[in-house]
Amino acid sequence: MAAECIQIDGGATKLRGTIRVPGDKSISHRALLFGAIAEGTTEIEGLLPAEDPLSTANCLRAMGVEVSEIAAGEIVRVQGVGLDGLQEPTGILDCGNSGTTMRLMLGLLAGREGRHFVLDGDQSLRKRPMGRVVQPLSKMEASITGRQGGNLAPLAVNGKALLGATIHTPVASAQVKSAILLAALTATGVTTVIEPSLSRDHSERMLKAFGAQLESKQTAALGPEVQLTPGSNLHGQKVVVPGDISSAAFWLVAGLLIPGSEIILENVGLNPSRTGILTVLEQMGAAVELMAHRLVAGEPVGDLRVKPASLKAFNIGGALIPTLVDEIPILAVAALAAEGTSVIKDAAELRVKETDRLAVMARQLRAMGAELEETADGLVIPGKQKLNGAQLDSETDHRVAMSLAIAALGANGSSKLARADAAAVSYPSFWQDLARIQA
Ligand code: S3P
Repeated sequence: MAAECIQIDGGATKLRGTIRVPGDKSISHRALLFGAIAEGTTEIEGLLPAEDPLSTANCLRAMGVEVSEIAAGEIVRVQGVGLDGLQEPTGILDCGNSGTTMRLMLGLLAGREGRHFVLDGDQSLRKRPMGRVVQPLSKMEASITGRQGGNLAPLAVNGKALLGATIHTPVASAQVKSAILLAALTATGVTTVIEPSLSRDHSERMLKAFGAQLESKQTAALGPEVQLTPGSNLHGQKVVVPGDISSAAFWLVAGLLIPGSEIILENVGLNPSRTGILTVLEQMGAAVELMAHRLVAGEPVGDLRVKPASLKAFNIGGALIPTLVDEIPILAVAALAAEGTSVIKDAAELRVKETDRLAVMARQLRAMGAELEETADGLVIPGKQKLNGAQLDSETDHRVAMSLAIAALGANGSSKLARADAAAVSYPSFWQDLARIQA
């Protein structure tokens, strides 16, 4: 793991080379979870060997699932225990920093009749809202208790038989949708999830591949809808995890901003529910070249080449936000270099991520001399600002750490980034990759 505090020299170091970003975090969690409750063995190639998926694997191991060692380049094998085979753990299930682990586990465990589970996490996770999952699960008869009426971890799940339900989610959140679908697998009756706009659909794609009976449709009046009919067992699969576009995003912006750079990103997942960053970069005038577009194990994948470009400001909100929700911190860095003022709205969800990412990014970029306005649900960022090296802090957030690293590379003078090791939550080799492509 990288040292806690890292020095980053700004100025003219161009970035040149090829990076194979690590496996997609969302798909990695799902491959472990669905593999655990399938019949037979699931083999996962390209699983992200980072702290968040390790939290999911360790929770599953604590409930009797055999998961082979998770290490870079290794195929991970999960011996499925079947839909209702998870054992009651003797201790708490530690979800670490991972919201996806906790929310999807709540859905997975709510229907395990006669078993009791306690889920906990780190200081950040204990502050994050779980009511958005607990409330819809309660509609299915789940019994989950915790601080603030079941909104905050530690949370206790008293496994019960569940009933299917029709649920309108108030936010477009793939974590909420996936938790409900996991609970629906063993509920009595059909479950329908209706979202205000489409969130990432990896669960739908992978559950179908594992044999679940599931149908997605777009209803004009209501929004995207997924219907799951229980009764089918899941069957172990070979899963190939593509590279994480949310990790590639840091290099896309770095390649655009740092003069003389040219970066090729290999094997990047290009699921349309995740490619909002490419849409925005294109609107900004960036020519990100897409090469070798292909389908790998049900997910679109391609290679990307990026070079510097003069950028125009962007204006984003609405249904685009869920397709780039994790890329907003790095887009804020891109906005500072663009011509004109960029506006991000409808992004209040960022306030309940690993940190309040709107507040933290505004605070940290201001430390570098940036002028930007924080609104209730977004940021207003005037462009053509030159940043100065500064004393920075990830405030424990992995995506903030990596976004600030790119901002610091483009700044005048050197910066010191405290708690840089946070990057390991989703991208353990980030600092090595950066050192390797610094020409
Ligand atoms: C994730 C969904 C997103 C994203 C998170 C991973 C997932 O959260 O921010 O990093 O794997 O389902 P929401 O769905 O809550 O927006």
